[in-house]
Amino acid sequence: MSMGLENVVAAETRLSSVDGANGVLVIKGYALDQIAGHKPFEEVARLLFTGLFDDLPDAGAFAARLGRAREEAFALVQRIDDGILALPPMDGMRALIARIHDGEDIDTALRLLAAPAVLLPAILRRRRGLSPLPPRPGQGHAADMLHMLTGKMPSPEVAGALDTYLVTVADHGLNASTFAARVVASTWSGLTSSVLAGLAALKGPLHGGAPGPIIAMLDGIGRPDNAEAWIEAALARGDRLMGFGHRIYKVRDPRADALKAAVRRMSEGSNVLPGRLMLAEAVEAAALRILQAHKPDRPLDVNVEFYTALLLEALGFPPDAFTAVFATGRTAGWLAHAREQRLTGRLIRPQSAYVGPEPAEAA
Ligand code: ACO
Repeated sequence: MSMGLENVVAAETRLSSVDGANGVLVIKGYALDQIAGHKPFEEVARLLFTGLFDDLPDAGAFAARLGRAREEAFALVQRIDDGILALPPMDGMRALIARIHDGEDIDTALRLLAAPAVLLPAILRRRRGLSPLPPRPGQGHAADMLHMLTGKMPSPEVAGALDTYLVTVADHGLNASTFAARVVASTWSGLTSSVLAGLAALKGPLHGGAPGPIIAMLDGIGRPDNAEAWIEAALARGDRLMGFGHRIYKVRDPRADALKAAVRRMSEGSNVLPGRLMLAEAVEAAALRILQAHKPDRPLDVNVEFYTALLLEALGFPPDAFTAVFATGRTAGWLAHAREQRLTGRLIRPQSAYVGPEPAEAA
């Protein structure tokens, strides 16, 4: 029995393939390094949706329709109250997204795709006592999200860094949150329900919740020459090092390099980032050395979350919002997988092995 379903194939997909032995991610026929940093998020989302929706807008109209969907999503910002603001941003966003009609059509999909990019900046601004800013539908999705966060139009390099990130995390095989989204879709529930399932599964620290604690780790280590002692002490306590290890990749996660390259491009115009990058590289090198000695039989390399933390910190997102930014990109994959499951899959209903007590014999 494989309790974590490792090596179990539970779906056929045309969306993405993860080759864990060779560290290769393919999204709809493109290797990650052919699209991350080269195609905007809108285009990759449309690529994922192709063949799965009736009335899919053509390439030119898709970005405009997504811009209009951001404007529509701004209506939900009125619903941000003290209850929402008291929640972690991921949970606040989930509560607001739950208000979207649970449809199956392209309009529902665009609404769900647009919502995180609008709701997360609005929640973060309200938390700082600032008014939410409306979207600018003519801007690119990533640039508009950053404008709604900071009130400033980002430079092409900065907007490009977020765009690269959103594309890098847009889809990744049958990861835990995508599986959750597909299980829900397999019951013929709607797309909103699938996205909510994805959000709920993503937020745990073994999946998309790791990058916030990575900032705490970097801050705790403070200087490159503290890395070894800090890591040794963490492993001696039985802690896991966030940002390392992966169920499928037995080598370096290819997404880590796509993001590291984006951080490096951003660091060229920044005073702060080069020092942070140097610290992260020292921590990465020390962690790889120590993990190899700690678990010689289990290859543990850097995963997507490590450089995500650095990139999102540099873009001005607070650590407790990192998972919600991840969700902004991954919603594209959840929506495509939910539709694919609905169109080509069956009800997902595995079995369990009962190991509890037998009923007492009748007297
Ligand atoms: N630090 C220290 N030890 C680790 C780590 C780590 N990061 N990852 C795995 N191990 C150890 C485990 O403790 C386990 O040891 P044991 O056999 O003595 O119990 C052994 O390596 C095997 O680990 P598994 O739990 O079998 O590995 P699994 O494939 O289930 O886990 C996971 C993958 C959850 C990502 C794990 O490596 C981990 O917890 N990493 C840290 C959290 C993290 O970075 N999460 C983000 C993942 S990327 C993503 O989902 C987007």
